[in-house]
Amino acid sequence: MLICVPEVLSKEEVAEFRRLMDAAGWEDGRSTAGAQSALVKRNEQLPPDSELARKLGHRIVSALTANPRFISAAIPLRIFPPLFNRYAASDGHHFGVHVDNAVRGDHLTGMRIRTDLSVTLFLAEPDEYEGGELVVEDNYGSHEVKLPAGDLVLYPASSLHLVTPVTSGMRVASFFWLQSMIRDAHARSMIFDLDSAIQSLVERLGRDDPETVKLTGIYHNLIRYWADV
Ligand code: NI
Repeated sequence: MLICVPEVLSKEEVAEFRRLMDAAGWEDGRSTAGAQSALVKRNEQLPPDSELARKLGHRIVSALTANPRFISAAIPLRIFPPLFNRYAASDGHHFGVHVDNAVRGDHLTGMRIRTDLSVTLFLAEPDEYEGGELVVEDNYGSHEVKLPAGDLVLYPASSLHLVTPVTSGMRVASFFWLQSMIRDAHARSMIFDLDSAIQSLVERLGRDDPETVKLTGIYHNLIRYWADV
């Protein structure tokens, strides 16, 4: 299941990120690719250990932990330090079909995670570039994603995906992975659906309505049952 989360960063924050990123040094994106994906990856990245990548990454993680839709969809246990990439039309940048590594380790923090979900946070507006769609394959077919700057998409890290060639302009994004407390993707998806239904009931009936309180209890008990922490 693909889940979009709008307005993780404001337009002002995106503009500030872009200003800082434009002034930074970039490197070949293959430096963080596995052996197999290095064959199909053509883009540039901010050096993952650079002060700027870490600083902007922290701001993204803080924004995420305050975002109820993101928390509800991901139920994150650990969020990998966000990385940043860009695809330029002039350099024929794209990222051919691949799957992400199952485990990611960060040598600066010692964090090691099982990658349950992949995240792309868009940092360029759709009209700034042509091409550059994120294409994710799942059981229901292939899905093209291109979101407004500041929005993100969550998708299963186990899925085949690619970024189509950028044919004009520049695609700028942050990307990272997370380990969810709920390893089972179907359970996570049902828990998200239940929470979404509860939130609309709360709006109609109030948070203290006895039935919404009962459903909220069931929601938490499902997390207790499925959580692997
Ligand atoms: Ni990938």
